[in-house]
Amino acid sequence: MNGDGVISASADAPSYVRTPAAELLRSLPVDRPLARYDLAGSLAHVEALGAAGVLDRAQVARLTEGLRAIGREIAGGTFPWRDDLEDVHTNVEHRLTALVGPLGGMLQAGRSRNDQIAVDERLYLRAAVARAAQGLLELQEALLGRASEEVATAMPGYTHLQRAQPVTVGHQLLAHFWRFDRDLDRLFATVERSDRSPLGAGALAGSTLGLAPEATARRLGFSAAFENSLDAVSDRDPLAELLFDLALLAVHASGLGEEIVLFATKEFGFLERTEALGSGSSLMPQKRNPDVAELARARAGRAVGDLVALLTVLKGVPLAYDRDLQEDKAPVLDAVATVDGTIAGLARLVRSLRFDRARLETAARDPELYATDLAEALVTRGVPFREAHELVRTHLGSSPSTSTVRVAPSSGAPAVELAIDPASALSRRRSPGGPGPAALAAQLDLARRRLELRRTSLSSLVRKVELIEELVNEGTT
Ligand code: ARG
Repeated sequence: MNGDGVISASADAPSYVRTPAAELLRSLPVDRPLARYDLAGSLAHVEALGAAGVLDRAQVARLTEGLRAIGREIAGGTFPWRDDLEDVHTNVEHRLTALVGPLGGMLQAGRSRNDQIAVDERLYLRAAVARAAQGLLELQEALLGRASEEVATAMPGYTHLQRAQPVTVGHQLLAHFWRFDRDLDRLFATVERSDRSPLGAGALAGSTLGLAPEATARRLGFSAAFENSLDAVSDRDPLAELLFDLALLAVHASGLGEEIVLFATKEFGFLERTEALGSGSSLMPQKRNPDVAELARARAGRAVGDLVALLTVLKGVPLAYDRDLQEDKAPVLDAVATVDGTIAGLARLVRSLRFDRARLETAARDPELYATDLAEALVTRGVPFREAHELVRTHLGSSPSTSTVRVAPSSGAPAVELAIDPASALSRRRSPGGPGPAALAAQLDLARRRLELRRTSLSSLVRKVELIEELVNEGTT
């Protein structure tokens, strides 16, 4: 870099990165985290060059050892990164040539940075999803664990944030569990749909060297290679899907965050204000702020912004590689880091939430919560529901009682009375998927079995992530 912050290429830099525009063009700061995947792609490509007879066995072995040595340098923090070499790909190729001599110049035969970056990103996506899924499973386990402790803890259920009907804390927590379960499903499906290797597509039209993209695909743990080389170098659908999955996950996390913020207010008082919620105030001694939940609420903004940023970059871009596509990485890396941090923080918070059961019990004894049950009791006596609805509505307003709700049908039929008792209100709820004790026990069971299934899916994904690590580390002790 010269005194103006302008990058000037050293004499040994390849001509294709020499330009006065280098400062704007370089992607090294964002693509460095992809280095391991770049090495894996290069190792598979070197094998493909060997299989095609472009390189002999000894050459394949030298290049392979050179690439693995680079892997060790990067992991050990000794790799000489150079800004003037524009990106991770050219840094690796240049270093390889320094280590193994002019043979390093064979690395890019039959390959372009266009198919290279596309494969790097898919391998990154696989590992990122495995990490996010691990975090999500921990959050779901926390929700499930806390739900099973609070199956019988009644609380008011809300619609429009107004007290509606009794539910339990367990039922409320499991509602969040299922949202995150769908997020997990979407993340796994995104990896499934991205299961095509772009390597071998070259710049846009393949190569004349007799490479076999199907073999390279399998070496990298993909079940197939691309169908169309133009599509292969352009396709950023996996990243757009990942960002949507993460944005919706973050939106779900923000809903959970908002409830924690509300329930920890003195006005609700359902949650004790412990240190796990967040920090205190530097000024007001009494404060304990729900910072973790507030950040979960806010960070959905970042994740949604990242999705919009990527879709806007992709809009109108013609086929094959265009430099616009370089702008895909920053939003992806940002969303992945943002969501990982948020779910880890939420899992910790959920594990340590302390419910104020006395306060919840009092709230669950609000007579209003029993209005619908009373109307339904009238229905079982043959009163048309619309009439029952009106009777209860006028009655509740006029004669509140502390232990029962009672209403007499206008026909002169006997009055209907219900005890204000959360436990019996809950046991009346036998509908599947509801907050009643039997339904909730069945739901807990379903959730436990679902977690088991998800763990199995995660371990097959983790095996593919490890395959890449083994490819890069092989022969390394
Ligand atoms: N740094 C580029 C990116 O991230 C790599 C591909 C460059 N290809 C090219 N034709 N200049 O998209």
